[in-house]
Amino acid sequence: MKLVLLGAPGAGKGTQAKKLIEKFGIPQISTGDLLRAAVAAETELGVQAKSFMDQGELVPDSVVLGMVEERLNQDDCQQGYILDGFPRNTVQAEALDDMLQSLGMDLDMALSVDVPLEDLMKRLTGRRTCRECGQMYNIYFSPPAEEGRCDKCGGELFQRDDDREETISKRLEVYNRQTAPLIDYYREKDILKSVNGTGGIDEIFANVLSTLGL
Ligand code: AP5
Ligand code: MG
Ligand code: ZN
Repeated sequence: MKLVLLGAPGAGKGTQAKKLIEKFGIPQISTGDLLRAAVAAETELGVQAKSFMDQGELVPDSVVLGMVEERLNQDDCQQGYILDGFPRNTVQAEALDDMLQSLGMDLDMALSVDVPLEDLMKRLTGRRTCRECGQMYNIYFSPPAEEGRCDKCGGELFQRDDDREETISKRLEVYNRQTAPLIDYYREKDILKSVNGTGGIDEIFANVLSTLGL
């Protein structure tokens, strides 16, 4: 399965990708997660990326493309992968096509997770993530049993720096302007499918599986 997950910030790309990994064992390539790891490690790339991320802007294409190319060349990607949060604009989508062509790979599908704008703010301001295992929670929709602690591993929960209201508004604007046009891009290539991203997480996952024909 070689899949691109499309969707606005907070649509549930990461949540659904994690369920696909659990079930099929294929890697998730989240450019957001890779960038946040670089920021935390204070690498040169991370220092460069941080200011863009804190403002809700896209990190320059050259930074992201190098990162993705390196990741796609690793052994665990040869059987399939889920691209989460990449591509983010037409330049990245075209670069991905070129990369895959030279690796002799084809995308099977671009799956758009559709959630109305009015649901996204609460999902994002309420998100909390485990520092140890990456499990995601939401203080409004799926809170942990004990405030601030991960149910799975007891790790500390944190809030992403870019999940503040003003940054979220900017991210949504950037999504509409730069990323939403990719829906047409993949529709024209005849590999676009959509799922309704509202409702329970497991209910959405069932729809994802049936849309993937699994
Ligand atoms: P990135 O990390 O990709 O963030 P994003 O696209 O804004 O998306 P999110 O991760 O916020 O949302 P998600 O769809 O994964 O939702 P989730 O499952 O967590 O990018 C961050 C930044 O990095 C960008 O702004 C940019 O600066 C940079 N960047 C990344 N990739 C780049 C690229 N390719 N090029 C350039 N720059 C790039 O769910 C959200 C919340 O909702 C959680 O709390 C979850 O528990 C909850 N939730 C999920 N499903 C449901 C449900 N069904 N009902 C209720 N709550 C739900
Ligand atoms: Mg995510
Ligand atoms: Zn945890």
